[in-house]
Amino acid sequence: MELVIDRITKQYKNKIAVDRVSLNLGIGVYGLLGANGAGKTTLMRMMCGILKPTNGEVKFNGIDVSEESYRDVLGYLPQDFGYYPEFSAQNFMYYMASLKGLTKAQAKTKTKELLEMVSLSDVAKKKIKTFSGGMKQRLGIAQALLNNPKILVLDEPTAGLDPKERVRFRNIISELGKDRIVLLSTHIVSDVEHISNTILVMKDGQILHSGSLEHIIKTVDGKVFECCVDSNTAERLTVAYPVINIRSEGENTFLRLVCDRMPHDTAINVSATLEDLYLYYFSEVSQHE
Ligand SMILES: Nc1ncnc2c1ncn2[C@@H]1O[C@H](COP(=O)(O)OP(=O)(O)O)[C@@H](O)[C@H]1O
Ligand SMILES: [Mg+2]
Repeated sequence: MELVIDRITKQYKNKIAVDRVSLNLGIGVYGLLGANGAGKTTLMRMMCGILKPTNGEVKFNGIDVSEESYRDVLGYLPQDFGYYPEFSAQNFMYYMASLKGLTKAQAKTKTKELLEMVSLSDVAKKKIKTFSGGMKQRLGIAQALLNNPKILVLDEPTAGLDPKERVRFRNIISELGKDRIVLLSTHIVSDVEHISNTILVMKDGQILHSGSLEHIIKTVDGKVFECCVDSNTAERLTVAYPVINIRSEGENTFLRLVCDRMPHDTAINVSATLEDLYLYYFSEVSQHE
């Protein structure tokens, strides 16, 4: 099972939203990490055949994304998914099932099974407008799974989830990633840290890095520093570099920051975390490039 993305590009007028991205995805969970505007949604929409690339192609086991049969292997949860507030969860699932061409009998069986899976069976007959953000997202995942897709694309699925919902969500995703390709986008570091086997770091339309958490973190090795300075120096450093943490104790200010060169005589190198990495690549004050 292989999803091959070959040098896809999307250009809007004078803006290149996705710039020659190539990826080979197999079974597992992939976390697409990037700030707002990085090109995540544009990339996903092209992978789902909703948006035509300016250049390049997307193929699953040799089937082109533009072919009808590609839709049978795809499940998609858009970023701005429109729920029908007056529908019950169950009727919404039946409705989505009919759009996807399932028979009534299939719709019934699948709806029961999927609402169970996302723990919404108890509220199957309740109107969606009474649901929390997390419940809606779980319903969104359930509808994306109606055709038992081999590729599951989730655009910012954790937006608005509370910590408890996040844990529940993670468990559902890792289960789903056992026998299919799951790609989820987020701008929240802790989401990908725990869910994905592979992290894809996206910036300005390109995939900067891809690999395991350990591999990705290695790319900022030697760029994370801690130092203890007076408040004037702290202020200067804060303007110049992405600061991860700042803590004052009497005269002293402790700083943790990311940069290419040693920011101050007293600075010492410390080992990096994914959060450091995120600030290094996505912070506005970032000095490199
Ligand atoms: N329909 C469009 N027309 C023009 N520019 C667009 C359109 N959609 C997205 N963009 C631009 O493309 C870039 C990537 O957007 P998007 O894919 O939504 O990023 P992300 O999902 O990572 O936030 C942004 O600069 C955005 O403003
Ligand atoms: Mg987006």
